[in-house]
Amino acid sequence: MTPTHTTGQLDTPAPTWRRETGVVIIGSGAAGLTAAVHLADADIPAVLLTRATDPAESATDWAQGGLAAVWDSTDSTDSHIADTLTAGAGLCDPAAVRTLVESAPEVIRRLVDLGADFDRAGENQDDYDLHLEGGHSARRILHSRGDGSGREVERTLLHALRRRLDQPGCSVRLRTGLRAVDILTDRHGAVCGVRVRDGAGAIGDLLAGTVVLATGGAGQAWTLTSNPAVATGDGLAMAWRAGAAVRDIEFTQFHPTILHRRAGQPRSGGRDVLISEAVRGEGAVLLDHGGHRVMAGVHPLADLAPRDVVSAAMHAHMAVTGEECLLLDARNFGPAAWAEKFPGILRMLRERGVDPVTEPVPVRPGAHYLCGGVAADMMGRTTVPGLFAIGEVAATGAQGANRLASNSVPEALVMGDRLGRWLRGLPRETPGQPVVRPSVPLTEPGSRARINELMDTHVGVLREAARLDTAIAELDALPGTGVLDDAALDTTAIHTTALLVAHAARERTESRGAHRRADHPETAPAWEVHLCLQAGPTGMRISREPVGRDSTVAALI
Ligand code: SIN
Repeated sequence: MTPTHTTGQLDTPAPTWRRETGVVIIGSGAAGLTAAVHLADADIPAVLLTRATDPAESATDWAQGGLAAVWDSTDSTDSHIADTLTAGAGLCDPAAVRTLVESAPEVIRRLVDLGADFDRAGENQDDYDLHLEGGHSARRILHSRGDGSGREVERTLLHALRRRLDQPGCSVRLRTGLRAVDILTDRHGAVCGVRVRDGAGAIGDLLAGTVVLATGGAGQAWTLTSNPAVATGDGLAMAWRAGAAVRDIEFTQFHPTILHRRAGQPRSGGRDVLISEAVRGEGAVLLDHGGHRVMAGVHPLADLAPRDVVSAAMHAHMAVTGEECLLLDARNFGPAAWAEKFPGILRMLRERGVDPVTEPVPVRPGAHYLCGGVAADMMGRTTVPGLFAIGEVAATGAQGANRLASNSVPEALVMGDRLGRWLRGLPRETPGQPVVRPSVPLTEPGSRARINELMDTHVGVLREAARLDTAIAELDALPGTGVLDDAALDTTAIHTTALLVAHAARERTESRGAHRRADHPETAPAWEVHLCLQAGPTGMRISREPVGRDSTVAALI
């Protein structure tokens, strides 16, 4: 057993400063910004931290899909709930889904009040140009400037926060380039702050009785990912070391169409390029190198089958033919439709030397979204008192075993809104004194490529026991380092994420939603339960919890 299985904290030099605030929010995507705006409006002292120098560097900013919500009289809340439950494959908590779906229109209206601009079909209020996406039975997806929805959400919220920060005496501060290293806990195991590291390597302790993780996902654990470079799973790893329960982390969504990049080839422009499902929605098709339709005869919806089905079919096809990638053919759109509907994707592809107007785009499935995460209820409460998780880092039960397209940004907004409002009403507690938890080693940065390789090969679209055992054994044996720097922190977070996903994937001996096992292709009724992992002082505890809103958090506290 490696120390990665136990609670603890990373070795750091002694902090050179210590400050106190009311709330620390880590992460500047939709969830963190929404909560921060509420705290500023309520005059609650808070610090919003982001490790990025540009606070817009978040998964929200990159989101090309839209925001799903019920707008039209031809649509209904029950229908959006039913679609979400179907995609979630038995692991959604129905009450969490109801809260998400019922609250989504309201949080989007608030965003519009803050200045967000979504594509319209007419002049009347709420007269939006609504789109259909995979798994939805009605047109209910809002877009902004075609494929720029996430950017519009991020821009609006950042602008709203900055306007408040500019007011004299604003209670909230935004700190960029400051990286959270560990959650601090007191002798009762409750949160009492965050240990941070600045760009020059100086360590400080920011004491607070409430810490909110809004750190997004962990796609960087795999080679090819739609996630930004900061999506290393920092929040997940910090929560894990502090003893928080992690739930359903085996459910990793692989998006079928990410621009192909060979292992070892650097990301051009610092990122992999996602080609939105909406491109297939407009009629693009997947071809093999002989020009044959990959999805023909695989599923009645062919190229518009659910994304787990498309990714699995692509994976199987490439395994048989030995092809490194497949081709997404959208030449039939023509230049005007490409420029109008997908201007961002067109620009990014052309910057990388691929012109989708005249040639098919080489694509492969890549890591996209963690449906599981830190176990949290619909207020963001985790199993560690004072620690909250919202957005992709959290597993609230709203996304189940497979997230429905365009439900992720609404969930981040709804959770940021709910937690922000709730914190407004809480009395401010004086944080306890941090205790030093046992030391956990940092992972040697040279292992990062090997972790990616293990995750691609053994913990990818299709998994099986022997391969998962190989991955776990190798991950357990990776070398540590005594050098604390950003590369070591990234690699440690990726390593922790990788181990948790591999263990959970090994434990769940069935195929369900985004988790597929070659050796257990069936969906087993006995597995219609949440799988929870929790670090203890002596090792990892694994348990199964019934599906039902808030049950996991309540049961594990
Ligand atoms: C996409 O546009 O294909 C991704 C959207 C999502 O993951 O919801």
